[in-house]
Amino acid sequence: MVVNKTEHWDEVPAVWNRRHLLGLEELSAKEITLILDQAEHFRSILTRGDRKIPLLNGKTCVNLFFENSTRTRVSFGLAVRRLGADVIEFAASTSSIAKGESIIDTAKNIEAMQIDCVIVRHHCPGAPKFLAENLSCSVLNAGDGPHEHPTQGLLDILTIRRHFGTLEGLTVALVGDIAHSRTARSNIWGLKKLGANVIVCGPSTLVSTHWEEIGVEYCYHLDKILDRADVFNLLRIQFERQVTRPFPSIAEYAHLYGMNGNRMRRTKENVLIIAPGPINRGVEITPEVADGPHSAILEQVTNGVAVRMAVLWLTLAR
Ligand code: CP
Repeated sequence: MVVNKTEHWDEVPAVWNRRHLLGLEELSAKEITLILDQAEHFRSILTRGDRKIPLLNGKTCVNLFFENSTRTRVSFGLAVRRLGADVIEFAASTSSIAKGESIIDTAKNIEAMQIDCVIVRHHCPGAPKFLAENLSCSVLNAGDGPHEHPTQGLLDILTIRRHFGTLEGLTVALVGDIAHSRTARSNIWGLKKLGANVIVCGPSTLVSTHWEEIGVEYCYHLDKILDRADVFNLLRIQFERQVTRPFPSIAEYAHLYGMNGNRMRRTKENVLIIAPGPINRGVEITPEVADGPHSAILEQVTNGVAVRMAVLWLTLAR
């Protein structure tokens, strides 16, 4: 395909000067908006016949995943290929990590094969930053423990912006396991920077009041905020990151915090329901809500490919 030189991907804008994407906390509103705008251009390509745009020909990325993933891994892999680059898949469970090799030795050996970008998911908060400080190639955070999941935050925000046209003045409720959710943290940073009001809601054992310091509201009762939010982002309970059970039973959690048909009837008329996935049907969301007319859950997944294409292009094209 011949790339049209007047297109939006002609040159990386000067506002972007980063090699890595480690989190949304460190990005400015301008940088976040640039990624969203660029993702919007790539989004239009995803629905046409020829979905490839070879802007990163000759580059090689590695999907370095130390935790399970469906959406993020496939989406990054697809985004790399759509841009004409090569992607190498690495699964920790079948690698020499099992023989005791450290993450840094693993990463340095992979980089020595002339890799341009490492896309890393790891259970330790800060693992992507550690790699960024020790490698010469670009590092993209695909989720580091409960710390951040920047591309998930970006695709959530892009999905909201596509529905409402702006983030300014919208009220977005993040419901569920705020304490262990990297998605919640990336949402909070990104949404606040773009002018949205954010409410974090869940059991008191999973919702800290410290977010008040940056203007985030907290609430322990979903029923009290049903008619206030324009968007509900329904988060999974991250049992794998918890050492004690934060509530008596899953049934009780679903009763108090699950989004169901009855609760939907008390929300705003044009309310948007999103969820990062994987969803647990019958816990944080019932099937009628997940598959209902207000749900943008699968749309989020489509937007995720565009967001990751934008991030790859911005960090690797210059
Ligand atoms: N939302 C998300 O990160 O999903 P995966 O764990 O399947 O990548």
